[in-house]
Amino acid sequence: MYKINDNYLKLPGSYLFSTIGKKVAAYTAEHPEKSIIRLGIGDVTQPLAPAIIEAMHKAVDEMGCAETFHGYAPDLGYEFLRNAIAGGDYQARGADIKADEIFVSDGAKCDSGNIQEIFSTDNRIAVCDPVYPVYVDTNVMAGRTGTYDAETEMWSDVIYMPCLAENGFAPKLPKETPDLIYLCFPNNPTGSAITKEQLQMWVDYANRVGAVIIYDAAYEAYISEENVPHTIYECEGARTCAIELKSFSKNAGFTGVRLGYTVIPKDLKCGGVSLHALWARRHGTKYNGAPYIIQRAGEAVYSEEGKAQLKEQIAYYMKNAKTIRDGLKDAGYTVSGGVNAPYIWLKTPDKMTSWEFFDYLLEKAGVVGTPGSGFGPSGEGYFRLTAFGSYENTLAALERIKKM
Ligand code: MLT
Repeated sequence: MYKINDNYLKLPGSYLFSTIGKKVAAYTAEHPEKSIIRLGIGDVTQPLAPAIIEAMHKAVDEMGCAETFHGYAPDLGYEFLRNAIAGGDYQARGADIKADEIFVSDGAKCDSGNIQEIFSTDNRIAVCDPVYPVYVDTNVMAGRTGTYDAETEMWSDVIYMPCLAENGFAPKLPKETPDLIYLCFPNNPTGSAITKEQLQMWVDYANRVGAVIIYDAAYEAYISEENVPHTIYECEGARTCAIELKSFSKNAGFTGVRLGYTVIPKDLKCGGVSLHALWARRHGTKYNGAPYIIQRAGEAVYSEEGKAQLKEQIAYYMKNAKTIRDGLKDAGYTVSGGVNAPYIWLKTPDKMTSWEFFDYLLEKAGVVGTPGSGFGPSGEGYFRLTAFGSYENTLAALERIKKM
């Protein structure tokens, strides 16, 4: 008789954004007359930039011609894209990352969920609290997290690093020593950022205790402040302790196109075993490769035209972020984030729980956001709004919130 992976049964409820989707669907079915503004999931709304569309059209034509047709993509991704990434995202910032240390994939969500597979199930993970749910959920599936306490909403074998207003939503070094440390900066969900000195402290710590940092830099394009690092490899020593995950979703609008990459430096070794080699083995076996057309689209992100067009897109979303931040402050809310990230993190009013505020906001304003507690226990009493809506919807949402 076969058995299932019963770690899956330990997962409480459904994935956060599926739960929200179901709640909103039920609400709209009951109130078909209500107009709903969605500032919940961090999904982009602006169309792909013209330079990207042009590159895709060209690649589609190539696929229709025997001389330029492409079959399976190379395991690590096409060299033209890996060269563009290594040059544009790393070497241009003085970070020593080479094209053959980059693994192109179909998105950072998959990579952030799958990367734990190359580590032992005995490893102890440390996560920021609140945190993007994929890191913990996928470690639950792997059997690495122990038992769940429904009251505290915590796993027995996870080291939680609270990110609260008191510490500027930046975690302190944990008291217990972890093996794998998940960090995401600029942060989802709090929208906070850390300085290069703060990140260097984590790199030094990881090297000292023999831990690996899994650094999610999905929101890097939104950094506006000088001393905020764009990649962990700006820090000295990161090549021996850090893996970086990167997405094309948030900087280039690829949420529906799917493209991302993972960096594993060749110096990252565990007792002489190269993590790069392990991930390459996994990639070769379990991954189909992002399509040629999409990788050409990714390459266009680094063209002069593409960069200029995407800069405008980021500025558009950051104008929304400022609008939400300033508008909520005017309305008396306590807010943070939205300066180096497309997320605004607000304290729920009148001691409402995050889910109470979710229902209140939906009912009174027809605005969908994301309850902070969905990202972890320290998110209770907080709420996330995204800057990824249209400007018109963002303004309308604020008007409605001010009238509540
Ligand atoms: C979010 O809303 O937190 C993100 O959009 C989810 C994701 O990137 O998968």
